[in-house]
Amino acid sequence: GWTMVNIAEEAIEAVRARVGETGRAICGLSGGVDSAVAAALVQRAIGDRLTCVFVDHGLLRKGEAEQVEKDFVAATGVDLVVVDAADRFLAELAGVTDPETKRKIIGREFIRAFESAARDIVAEREGPVEFLVQGTLYPDVVESGGGTGAANIKSHHNVGGLPEDLQFGLVEPLRTLFKDEVRALGEQLGLPAEIVWRHPFPGPGLAIRIIGAVDRDRLAILREADAIAREELTAAGLDRDIWQFPVVLLADVRSVGVQGDGRTYGHPVVLRPVTSEDAMTADWARLPYDVLQKISTRITNEVREINRVVVDVTSKPPGTIEWE
Ligand code: XMP
Repeated sequence: GWTMVNIAEEAIEAVRARVGETGRAICGLSGGVDSAVAAALVQRAIGDRLTCVFVDHGLLRKGEAEQVEKDFVAATGVDLVVVDAADRFLAELAGVTDPETKRKIIGREFIRAFESAARDIVAEREGPVEFLVQGTLYPDVVESGGGTGAANIKSHHNVGGLPEDLQFGLVEPLRTLFKDEVRALGEQLGLPAEIVWRHPFPGPGLAIRIIGAVDRDRLAILREADAIAREELTAAGLDRDIWQFPVVLLADVRSVGVQGDGRTYGHPVVLRPVTSEDAMTADWARLPYDVLQKISTRITNEVREINRVVVDVTSKPPGTIEWE
């Protein structure tokens, strides 16, 4: 409708006013909808004076890195620098099981990789790069600065994490918006539905959905199971009714099973579908039994290492959405 067009036009104008006629900006892409919409908006405003940086930490879900590198670039024409940092992240994460330690390592390495890419971009460009674009939403602002206590339950690394000495002015064109408004804006800007309608995904990625240490094999197992769960949710036409659908690999737990003629000794995965308005509270989603059945059958048939599928029926509170 015209309201969204207005919001887009106004936001584009506001970015132009802030960045000016010659200013340059960089933007980190996470694979999520917020940074994608922020980047698409700024690209509309200042074109190739924006450079996007995608730090691939190797912790994304199946197909997500490709969506950023190919589909997003195709839809926006944005100038993109990809940093393949998976080896480094996995080396730093090796053997780490504590959730907050995982988060701190990922946050630190992310900033390191992003800063280094930013410095290269600054060095290569004719003029200085004065601005940093961030996809901060209204609820992020409230949750990080509100001092409500909830902010400190888990350390989120996507807000306020960049060091002062990079000295960028911040451009946060989504600061007054809620998720549904950001999605409408993304559609208005012509972004692919797979990006616009993507469920929220934590910055630390699959690392906090592997209970236990993170390694390539475990990531590969979780990626397959997660892809099946998402596919079946979409096939059932339910993905827009569900806020998030984490699949969690209990990597240090084994259970006995039987398949064909043989005993198996594999890992369980937990399905954690939730409904929510803003992630501050959530309810476990009552997915239809036949959808759960399909997901369970497919995962145990198609992912050799998994022989048991369980469903998390805990609301938030007392559970959080993610397991770590
Ligand atoms: P919890 O698990 O605290 O999650 O109920 C609330 C929302 O935040 C997401 N989440 C994160 N997002 N960095 C992020 O960018 C993080 O470290 C992080 N931890 C949790 C989670 O997916 C849910 O949407």
